Amino acid sequence: MAAKLFATKPISTILAEAAETSEHSLKRALGPVNLVTLGIGAIIGAGIFVLTGTAAAQFAGPAIVLSFAIAGIGCVFAGLCYAEFASMIPIAGSAYTYGYATMGELVAWIIGWALVLEYAFGAATVAVGWSGYASSMLGFFGARLPFNATPAISLSLFGHTLSAHVDIFALLAIIVITAVLVIGVRESANLNSTAVIIKVSVVLIFIGLALAFAFGHWSHMVANWHPFIPKNTGHFGQFGWSGIMRGAGVVFFAYIGFDAVSTAAQEARNPQKDLPFGILGSLVICTILYIIVAGLLTGLKSYTALNVPAPVADGAAEIGVRWGVFLIDMGAIAGLASVMLVMLLGQSRVLYTMSHDGLFWKWACRIHPRFRTPYITSMVVGIFVAFLAAFFPIWLLGELVSLGTLLAFTIVSLGVWIMRVKQPDVHRPFRTPLVPLVPIGGMVVSLALMLSLDAPAWIGFGSWLIVGQIIYFTYSRKHSVVQRSLAAAAKEPGASIGK
Ligand code: ALA
Repeated sequence: MAAKLFATKPISTILAEAAETSEHSLKRALGPVNLVTLGIGAIIGAGIFVLTGTAAAQFAGPAIVLSFAIAGIGCVFAGLCYAEFASMIPIAGSAYTYGYATMGELVAWIIGWALVLEYAFGAATVAVGWSGYASSMLGFFGARLPFNATPAISLSLFGHTLSAHVDIFALLAIIVITAVLVIGVRESANLNSTAVIIKVSVVLIFIGLALAFAFGHWSHMVANWHPFIPKNTGHFGQFGWSGIMRGAGVVFFAYIGFDAVSTAAQEARNPQKDLPFGILGSLVICTILYIIVAGLLTGLKSYTALNVPAPVADGAAEIGVRWGVFLIDMGAIAGLASVMLVMLLGQSRVLYTMSHDGLFWKWACRIHPRFRTPYITSMVVGIFVAFLAAFFPIWLLGELVSLGTLLAFTIVSLGVWIMRVKQPDVHRPFRTPLVPLVPIGGMVVSLALMLSLDAPAWIGFGSWLIVGQIIYFTYSRKHSVVQRSLAAAAKEPGASIGK
């Protein structure tokens, strides 16, 4: 039994299957620039536009720039590991497929399930952030809606009344993005490129305005940067060094997304060269931008005043440039839409691959005859995510996403090391430098960030993993293509996996 749980799927089988099925499945439409923009499209989003303020105000103060640096270093380590796998196994499914090839089915399932959490809950988190900026934009024009955008609903259950607010903007955003994804990836990639240009321009405009302000008001900035590391309040995670670590765990969300590049492997024109370029290129650009934005934002406004739904727009308001506030609201609205798009795209592709391997129900790998997209899974996931976005608070969704992603990063980093030892001769178009130091760095930083996060997120994450195990042991194991091939091979010597 233990041996079967850790049965791996040979890389040759994975590549052969991809070659066989590619003619009937996903279009190869994405080049290197598309992939970098796909990465930036997924990376810059609610993390920098919303969570920077929350994390500075609650955990790290101006030292949030150190939190960004720590999270960024961890991501570069993990990104280097992702790049080796993505070039070696350029197949949709990303970390899930890498885990299957190296550490076996059970680990692959755990990674895949963690990725489902990352993308689904991530898209929901961003939708809630999007809704905040949409409201801020309406406020900018002094517009009043003829209806309440967050009506309260209540439900009576066994004598208890449960009540919640429904975020109507967040719900609508997910429905529209899902419709775009069902229509097709080329259209989606074009839309994404436009959103990325707007988003990066807006970040650069903020940096330009804030720098101009800083030159004229240096003492204002210095006063806000003091104390740079506010004193710990006596509780873990509330300022001081533990606050910097918790801040890093929270703003880690801002980096999530570069791994989504690898989920588009089957749609890349030249995956072996372009995937590492896409992953590392998008990560480096975003890390530099984040550190600059966080530093300037905490200089413009006291960190104590940054726990608001649209902190970057508020920072621009501090400068007194009204058109700057308008542009930042607009950029955030377009930018967050592109993040939702890439996350939902990644989500349906992961489920597609898991379903293709027999680990998830068959409907998840049905391809639309005309649009050639996994349309059923896009729609089912869209409904689930719309529900999450409508009912759950942004902080809980965000921390859950960080936990799921950090678990996947830890396993991927370990996987690169294991693979170098177990299969040193496999062709690696991109090699992670300094193995095992870089994988160990990726694991240590990821685990430290996980441990810095709060109890409610851990409870949610643990429950998610338990549900995953129930699905695996009641459905996936019985339908796994690899397990069936192993059983056939045991009965009939000479048969091999994947044939
Ligand atoms: N990194 C993405 C964001 O910040 C998920 O929204």
